[in-house]
Amino acid sequence: MRKDLIAGNWKMHMTHQETLQFVQKLSYRLEPSDYERVDVVICPPLTALRTAQVVIESDNLEIGLGAQHCFFEEKGAYTGEVSPQMLSKLAVSYVIAGHSERRQIFGETDEMVNKKVKAILDEGMIPIMCCGETEDEREQGLTEQKVGTQVRLGLQGLTAEQVAGLVIAYEPIWAIGTGKTASADDAGDMCTFVRNTVAEMFGEAADSVRVLYGGSVKPGNIAGLMAKRDIDGALVGGASLDPDSMASLVRYYI
Ligand code: PGA
Repeated sequence: MRKDLIAGNWKMHMTHQETLQFVQKLSYRLEPSDYERVDVVICPPLTALRTAQVVIESDNLEIGLGAQHCFFEEKGAYTGEVSPQMLSKLAVSYVIAGHSERRQIFGETDEMVNKKVKAILDEGMIPIMCCGETEDEREQGLTEQKVGTQVRLGLQGLTAEQVAGLVIAYEPIWAIGTGKTASADDAGDMCTFVRNTVAEMFGEAADSVRVLYGGSVKPGNIAGLMAKRDIDGALVGGASLDPDSMASLVRYYI
């Protein structure tokens, strides 16, 4: 019922020229049957979105385009920011909201994440809303409290219909970029917890929400994660930067 989604979060990597080469190489490595099973999404930096859009459209590729960030206002005196509409006009379909790096380094709060999620939906795009605990919080037994709060505040005020199309990424902060992956069992349990939290708020819309795991996902560990009932895909940083590795992630089932 839920289509798997593998999304590459490139973070602050790749120029627009490198993006062009990446998209071409990835497209050579994937086949139509891959896109039937998996939604394949790349999230380049803002400066490379236009290039990615042009190559995807001109070569008629089924690679989805995502952005890593936007502001929640429509327009105005917000130096350095980009609006959801500016992204949707570039054929961007997904936008990451509430990534732990944006929360920790750039001070994004749950309230801002909630506004962002709404603004992204208003422009017809799909938010990939991130949540996750720190190592300290996990050691203190606060994982569910932290993640539950992020999910509840992030989704506050949405309709069940909006929620049904959402993507939520559970990304334990201690696993991001560290090489330490959560065990498939722990990741699966937390993705179930995320879905149950959505179900408490929005009922059966939770069955349609795609819940991703993120944090040091690699070609070597993705199959075990994807075998879990409530894991519908992965948000991948480091291992998404190489087209061979990204293609292996998409073809995890082979
Ligand atoms: P990683 O990053 O795969 O490099 O751990 C994941 C993320 O931050 O989305």
